[in-house]
Amino acid sequence: MRGKNIIIGICGGIAAYKTPQLVRALKKEGANVRVALTDGGARFVSELALATVSQEPVYRKIFPPADTPETDYTHHISLGEWADALVIAPATANTLARLAAGLCDDMLTACFLTLRPGKPVLIFPAMDGQMFLSASVQRNIALLQEQGCLVFRPESGELASGQCGLGRMAEPDTIKSRLEEALQKPTEHSPLQGKTIVVTAGPTREKIDGVRYISNYSSGKMGFAIARAAVERGALVTLITGPVNLETPPGVERINVESATEMLAAARNFFQSCTLFIGAAAVADYRPALPFEGKMKKNSSEIELTLVKNPDILAEFSLQKSSNQLAIGFALEMQSDLVNAQKKLEAKQLDLIAFNFFDRKTAGFEVDTNILTLIEESGATTELPQLPKEEAAKRLLDAIEELYVNKGINC
Ligand code: C5P
Repeated sequence: MRGKNIIIGICGGIAAYKTPQLVRALKKEGANVRVALTDGGARFVSELALATVSQEPVYRKIFPPADTPETDYTHHISLGEWADALVIAPATANTLARLAAGLCDDMLTACFLTLRPGKPVLIFPAMDGQMFLSASVQRNIALLQEQGCLVFRPESGELASGQCGLGRMAEPDTIKSRLEEALQKPTEHSPLQGKTIVVTAGPTREKIDGVRYISNYSSGKMGFAIARAAVERGALVTLITGPVNLETPPGVERINVESATEMLAAARNFFQSCTLFIGAAAVADYRPALPFEGKMKKNSSEIELTLVKNPDILAEFSLQKSSNQLAIGFALEMQSDLVNAQKKLEAKQLDLIAFNFFDRKTAGFEVDTNILTLIEESGATTELPQLPKEEAAKRLLDAIEELYVNKGINC
């Protein structure tokens, strides 16, 4: 924390009264702290108290008051550029909406927009539980998470309204710990920086005849989210994808394939050169043995289709990989049972497998969220909550970064 430049954004919730304590705790650790206070926040905590504990002026408006000397210009960009992290606590429903919409009408929102890429934003909403769970607030939180903000669920307990339930802001000590963790993982020092990564994504199509195929419901969203997040960490990413309806993330090299055989052929070109292979594709397990040339006629009431097993792309890579390469897989299971995923991890000799339970509402194919449990080769498991796929991808990459560090790989 020593020497880090931290902005504390304070909004208009009763929990704002705890923020001078947070500022003091960070200052004690040697951080430079500046406060961006919203108008609502100023109703709950005094500017003087915050200026005194931070030993800095408190920032509120983008434009200096009319009677200030002409030399006193607006700080609307410089404050955001100065910061190593932005912590918003308490964050109100109103400010969550302003941030999600990209508004820039006070110093807090201006800081958010001008923060340098990769600098962590930690958001601690505090409000009535029903309000927090409302569709609008949840949508705004999801948008902010997609952008990489770390949003922490309010705690449950006694509320200022006299009610008891969800809504309390985390205690200053907890906020300080979350900030320390976030600062320890600056994205600009990611072990993935400069690494060549292959991600497979989407379904495969296995031809029955010239106009029909066998496939599955995979949307490719998880694999695309991983590719995007890896590029953001400075990796050189090749995305080998089956047919999906998704835009190529900026900076990603995309190779379109159709069948498992084509996906394998494309992937083999990178088996030697990549340092990380992430199999997020839902590769069809079987393909018709002899696809029919042209279009099959419906002459009979029954037909028999002989299927042969497809090659396992991830396993082929993993079983021949060197000690400097990592292989990561996914295991989609119909039951919430980790045993099958563990068996796959062992059989394919993977470094990590992301188990996800298939319910088609909150996790698995097509939907925008996922609930992953990360199982490492060592048996260590990490259960992630339900997250937008973009955020789940980042958490998966965090775990992979840790593997790089633990295995001492730095090629
Ligand atoms: O065995 P299962 O299909 O459940 O394994 C899932 C994992 O293996 C995924 O990471 C998937 O991308 C990969 N896989 C593959 N080639 C196959 C089958 C699965 O790369 N033919």
